[in-house]
Amino acid sequence: MQKIDVVKHILRHTSLGSFFCGEGSAFAPSNVALCKYWGKRDLELNLPVTSSLSISLGNKGTFTKIKHEGTTDNYIVNGVVIGQEAQFAKRLKEFMDLFRPHGVHYLVEIDTNVPIAAGFASSACGFASLVQALNKLYDWRLDKKDLSILARLGSGSACRSLFEGFVEWQRGDNGDGMDSYGIKLECVWPELRIGMLMVSAEEKAISSRRAMQLTVETSPLYAAWPDQVAADLSNIRLALTRKDFNLLGEIAESNAISMHTTMWAAKPPIVYSLPETFAAIAKVQELRLAGIPVFFTQDAGPNLQLLFLVEHEEHVLRVFPELEVVLPFPDSNAVRLTLVDEHDVMVGSCEKLAAHIQGRLHRAFSVVILRKRDNNIEILLQQRSALKYHSANLWSNTCCGHPKPGEDIVAAAEERLREEMGFSVPLTELGKFHYQAKFPDVDLIENEIDHVLVGFSDLAALPFNVAEVQDYRWVDILELQKDLQCRPGQYTFWLSSVIELVQLKISNVF
Ligand code: DP6
Repeated sequence: MQKIDVVKHILRHTSLGSFFCGEGSAFAPSNVALCKYWGKRDLELNLPVTSSLSISLGNKGTFTKIKHEGTTDNYIVNGVVIGQEAQFAKRLKEFMDLFRPHGVHYLVEIDTNVPIAAGFASSACGFASLVQALNKLYDWRLDKKDLSILARLGSGSACRSLFEGFVEWQRGDNGDGMDSYGIKLECVWPELRIGMLMVSAEEKAISSRRAMQLTVETSPLYAAWPDQVAADLSNIRLALTRKDFNLLGEIAESNAISMHTTMWAAKPPIVYSLPETFAAIAKVQELRLAGIPVFFTQDAGPNLQLLFLVEHEEHVLRVFPELEVVLPFPDSNAVRLTLVDEHDVMVGSCEKLAAHIQGRLHRAFSVVILRKRDNNIEILLQQRSALKYHSANLWSNTCCGHPKPGEDIVAAAEERLREEMGFSVPLTELGKFHYQAKFPDVDLIENEIDHVLVGFSDLAALPFNVAEVQDYRWVDILELQKDLQCRPGQYTFWLSSVIELVQLKISNVF
């Protein structure tokens, strides 16, 4: 399968070039992989051997503006016109050809605040911003999943730069790569800092694309890489759930070291590190010995990215005064929960994961969408995504969420329904209940006053959000009650209480 076949498939409902808005522009953040993408199973489509996981770099990235203009393509990077013969221009033109209506030429203006081709993922944010700019230029109205797949065709790691925060690129299994794209993870970690340590701004001698392929083809150590990634990914997910910084740092650092070791064993050996790189690594180790938790990761280049927490920023800056500190979560107040007392009266607010680690009583809602089939009542269930912070993969009511401090519960629930299931209907509150549960596998505690809201719909196909939901189904409510008794392990802990309340009030509802 060729790139153009994927593009045609994704754009099958739009007619290429028939509508355009004059100009399209977009920003995308750069990203740093904490568990690396290293090795492709399909060179043409940039399909990876393994999944990978990254953190996006807030306001460090690329802004791209694109329009139809001239008789040949023109590419301008940070105000400088790039010659047609430059490797960069050739790669960009090849990508633009996938989308180009007959006879059209582009003016592409790229402004970036990350050094190009120096191992700071400039191509990742470049292609991610480019596909979003094209999406606007041609008014495709594609969702982030399809845009992530298109960005991957430009550069693998670009599929993660469509999102802010932590992002997992799921490798997928299909030959056409339609299941290989980035998914945003829920974890918000405002205290986290990434330090960009520039050792050399020179363009790297060997591209990551070439280095990756040489490693796969010639390194005897590569055979162990997929298993290492599987273990690292599950440890990083755990570290994010528990906000365990030492675990996160240790795994990210050892993953980067393993990646570089597989390269050293390639024939010929690929060595990106310079003496200055090793000198900086030694300083990181000294800091750790002095009790300051700071770790490094390194992409395909000599530069390092340091990981540390805000409380150690001053100390780290004293040792690395040239460090550029990035805040991956500049606006992190968004995910705060409403803390309540046992009468559901607001007593404060708290960051979402902290509330679940400490088991603090907070306000939540559960949405139930119903429909009538003959004389039976059916409920719309969702299967939670494999990436949810707790109760992953389990079947549950239509959707759940937390109102922000001061937010109206019904409005928040209607909005959440749209975000998760792709539609919204007016909701009515049925009642509320208090529940507490421990999730020992992830070390979290639920302690909520759960407001149950009901609404009606009969939609056959739902454009649900894959970051939250992996599947949905309609089920007869009486059948569900029986199955809840027989196979409780298939369902979320709170679903039976929600259904009990619905049953109790059902006569008021229909
Ligand atoms: C070391 O995404 O640049 O940064 O798909 O060939 O364009 P192509 O490769 P690219 O490789 C990135 C490699 C890495 C690790 C990572 O970002 O996961």
